Amino acid sequence: MTSLQTNSFPATPELPSDSGSQVQQPPTLLSPCDMGRFSLSHRIVLAPLSRLRSYNFTAQPHAALYYSQRATMGGFLIGEASGISETAQGYPNTPGIWRTEHVEAWKPIVKAVHDKGGLFFCQLWHAGRVSYRSFQPNGDPPISCTDKPPATEKDICGSTVPEYPPPQPLTAEGITQVVNDYRVAARNAMEAGFDGVEIHGGNGYLIDQFLKDQVNDRRDDEYGGSLENRCRFALEVVKAVSEEIGGHRVGIRLSPFANYNDCGDSDPEALGEFMCKSLNRYGILYCHMIEPRMVTQFEKREGEGRSLLAMRKAFKGMFIVAGGYDKEEGEKVIRNGGADLVAFGRLYLANPDLPKRFELGAALNEYDRSTFYTHDPVIGYTDYPFLEMH
Ligand SMILES: Cc1cc2nc3c(=O)[nH]c(=O)nc-3n(C[C@H](O)[C@H](O)[C@H](O)COP(=O)(O)O)c2cc1C
Repeated sequence: MTSLQTNSFPATPELPSDSGSQVQQPPTLLSPCDMGRFSLSHRIVLAPLSRLRSYNFTAQPHAALYYSQRATMGGFLIGEASGISETAQGYPNTPGIWRTEHVEAWKPIVKAVHDKGGLFFCQLWHAGRVSYRSFQPNGDPPISCTDKPPATEKDICGSTVPEYPPPQPLTAEGITQVVNDYRVAARNAMEAGFDGVEIHGGNGYLIDQFLKDQVNDRRDDEYGGSLENRCRFALEVVKAVSEEIGGHRVGIRLSPFANYNDCGDSDPEALGEFMCKSLNRYGILYCHMIEPRMVTQFEKREGEGRSLLAMRKAFKGMFIVAGGYDKEEGEKVIRNGGADLVAFGRLYLANPDLPKRFELGAALNEYDRSTFYTHDPVIGYTDYPFLEMH
């Protein structure tokens, strides 16, 4: 047996196989984990992945196969970003969770995951200013904390997108309405059968726009200016959603370091730590942080010495990390106590049986980026091969 050398655990001693010793082994990706009231059989999480196959903003039957392929007994799946209201969308064919039809459409998909013993959370999302008038009711401008549109970048498919229109800054009344939309969406998710919700507070969408000082730089009310004010909207959403469905069913995703969708902050460490400490007030289940190395959704930048450690220490609930992980690094962060769970995006997208492959040390399918966001109900979606078992 090889000894494990880590920063925070002593090297594992050599043990005779039948010693029955009580020496505590550090956890691995495949160790069980109690996540609040939920018992997980392993720590490999499906990251939220928009797949743009939800026609008419409604989840489709083919998603039942896609998610059930990735479900395992006691495994945790986070669903793709789902719009909380008719102003929430910013891309074609993303699902909603604000109408009765949306709830009904999700039901068989959630059931398919539960039938395999999986645990399934719905990611609640509002794109904010990363949207166009064509996605908005009456062709109105998208909403945000600001009237400043995002700089035009390459879009999620890699092509240059048309210029974004200037958004309309939300008034205090407008904010109250959106907070309530999150509350109703969370209730809808529970009605659809989900086990809980993840509030999408990252990647430059509405909540992140309020959080970050490079976007939220011109409000003079209680939702702008100081760090505390910029975090107010996010925390109001967390409070409302937790009151509605119980904090034990609520997680939040944050990406303080990212500059994705032209949404950066001058002091991401302070922002992340302040949020983690404030979240403790609501007793939510988990905080899901994107690693500092992820500058955008896909680009990885190494070696800048930034870390999530202070946030991990500040937050009292379960801590999930994501962004550029492979098996080896995932094992390391779990072993070192840097996280309780690791979410895998592109690897899980391309390997429906990722936990099994990790367990066996098997080779992985490569992902095909060109089909990440195409709209086909099968290709690049449910046709990635499973490991052949002999
Ligand atoms: C196709 C695709 C769709 C994504 N959609 C979402 C999403 O809906 N919500 C979200 O929070 N992150 C989304 N992400 C980001 C992933 O959850 C994850 O953070 C990112 O892929 C980095 O992790 P990885 O290196 O394991 O892929 C998406 C990423 C990809 C590749």
